[in-house]
This record gives sequence, structure tokens and C-alpha cells, in this order.
Amino acid sequence: MAVIRSVIRGVGAYLPKRVMTNHDLARMVDTSDEWIKERTGIAERHIVADGEFTSDLGIAASRQALVRSGIDPIDIDLVICATATPDRTFPATAVRIQAGLGITKGAAFDVQAVCSGFVYALAIADNFLKTGQFKRAIVVGAEAFSRILDWEDRGTCVLFGDGAGAVVLEAQSQNGSREDRGILATRIRSDGRFEDLLYVDGGPGSTKTTGHLRMNGREVFRHAVQKISSVIEETLVMTGYAPDEIDLYVPHQANKRILDGIAKRLGIPEEKVVLTLAKHGNTSAASIPLALNQAFEDHRISEGKLLLMEAMGGGFTWGAALARW
Ligand code: UT7
Repeated sequence: MAVIRSVIRGVGAYLPKRVMTNHDLARMVDTSDEWIKERTGIAERHIVADGEFTSDLGIAASRQALVRSGIDPIDIDLVICATATPDRTFPATAVRIQAGLGITKGAAFDVQAVCSGFVYALAIADNFLKTGQFKRAIVVGAEAFSRILDWEDRGTCVLFGDGAGAVVLEAQSQNGSREDRGILATRIRSDGRFEDLLYVDGGPGSTKTTGHLRMNGREVFRHAVQKISSVIEETLVMTGYAPDEIDLYVPHQANKRILDGIAKRLGIPEEKVVLTLAKHGNTSAASIPLALNQAFEDHRISEGKLLLMEAMGGGFTWGAALARW
């Protein structure tokens, strides 16, 4: 039976020019290249320039994704930006991206699910496309996390980086079979009881300030492997796929030890895992599309490949998506 699927037509990314290494950080706080690499897998991260905003990163990533998709910006009718670091309290960064791309029709809005934002945004776009309300969407993950870090807190400032990635989705009729292209399943979850383990201690509605990121890393780590593994298992059950059928595992990049733990638990071999942590750090909502872009540029993604994406972040929020390129 024919069904509508959201097919990924293009991917793009953008990283700010400035690179900050672990050695640079060791001159700022009491840390070392060895500690950061060993505990996280991160070697360096990109940092936005003065006057460079989340929307600028998102526009650059979207432009590349659009060129690769062969779709004209004027044919896009939905722009969703996943970000926890919007340019302004309002309007949505997605609206600024929409305007920057010269799109004047349809709708644009932000999604706030922190590191899980891209999976959330993908799920929302997929559902809009499947119902026929929109035909072509840009889903962006864009972050300037350096702006909400406490640069004196070695427990958090060494972990994050800035950047953006984007995918262009198009509603296409498929056979409704296991071999269909497009997003095959998404699953998103949240549990607000864990807010105090990962949050920003400010906001327009409370302190009237931006605030700084606060995290109990050890506790977040403890939840991550279990929650992510279970949402992946639910996603696989929904589609009837076994872990060994996955061609490429494209996880949110928070900590290499978390990714190793999940891959081991699911039996996904190392060569199927896309790892960008070393060069990007944790870029929150941008990390999955940045990793997709890296895998695409490394020729690891081609038509027909089955991709598994997952993330967990503040809230807690978490989720997974399965898609055939
Ligand atoms: O993307 C959103 C979700 N976020 C995550 O998934 C992050 C999850 N958590 C983690 O990735 C890890 O918990 C961290 C990388 C944040 C920390 O690693 P850990 O192995 O859990 O270390 P820890 O917090 O248990 O700290 C171990 C030690 C402590 O010293 P003491 O108390 O044992 O003397 C810390 O003070 O390491 C110390 N430490 C550092 N040392 C050098 C913490 N940060 C640093 C640092 N450099 N940057």
C-alpha cells in the first residue's frame, strides 16, 4: 500500500572558523588534554565569533543542504530549528533562518529539547509531511553553546562546542515496505523529574538573564546509556529491524564512553558508528546533523543505507529515529 514518507534529499553543515583545543582550555581552567580525551573523546571544538549568531550558522548549513538537494528555497514550506541557544528570546531563530534563505511561505518555528532537539524536530517535520500539510521541510540543528557556558566551570566548559547541521526533507510516495526510503520511525520521550541534573540557571521568565549551563555529569551519564538504549529498542521494534541491519549509527555526540556503551549493548560494531566528538565536542541539537554531514562527505552514506539516530539531553528529553537514505 502506498504511503507518504519524508525522504532526506540533502544534508549540510557549518562550523565557525575558530577552533579551541583542549590545550587552549588547559590554559583557562584546571584541566588537561589527557583528562578531556580520556573521559570524553573530545580533542577540539569550534567557537562562534563575536557577532556570529545561531541563525547565521543555521542559514549556512541550510544553504549547503538545499544545494545538495537540488530543491529551490522557494519550494520549502516548513522550517524547524532545534536550538537551546536562540539569537533572541523571540522571534524564533527558525524565522530568521527562513528569512535568510528567502523563504516567505509556510511556517517556521523553533523546537526546544536541548541535545534531543534534532530528533524532536525530525519527528515533528515527519509527521507534518506525512499528513500532507507541508511538502518540503528544512530541519536545522544549530547552537552557539559557548554563549551559555560558565568558562570557569571545568566540569562543563570543556564539553561543548558550536555549529549547525541541516537536512532537507521531501514528502514522497513510497511502497509502504521495509525497503522504503525516508524516515521509517521516530520515538520521542521526556521526563521532567530530572530537570535539576542538566539545566541553565537563567531565563527571560525567571531571572531575566540568559544564565549558564549546569550539569551533574555523573548522574546524566548514568541515565544516558539506559534511556537511549531503551528508546532505540522501541524504535527497532516499531519497524521490525534488528540491530545488525543498521548500516550506520549516527548518535548525538556527548561522550565517547556513552556511545561505546550503547553500541556494545546493542551489538553495533565500531565501524558502523559515526564519531565526530573529537573535532566538534558536544554541539547539542547540531551534533546529529553535523555527524550526518560528516558521514555523507566521507562517502559513508548513500541511497538505501539504513541510519539510526538517537539523542538525550536536558529535561530529560530523549529519542531515536530510523531512516533509509
Ligand atoms: O548532551 C547532553 C547530555 N550530557 C551528557 O551526556 C554528559 C554526560 N556526562 C559525562 O559525559 C561525564 O560525566 C563527564 C565527562 C561530564 C565527566 O566524566 P566523569 O567520568 O563522570 O567524571 P566525574 O564528574 O565523576 O569527575 C571525576 C573527577 C572529579 O574529581 P574528584 O572529585 O574525583 O577529585 C572531577 O572534579 O574529574 C574531575 N574533573 C575534571 N578534571 C580535569 C571534572 N571535570 C574535569 C576536567 N578536567 N575538565
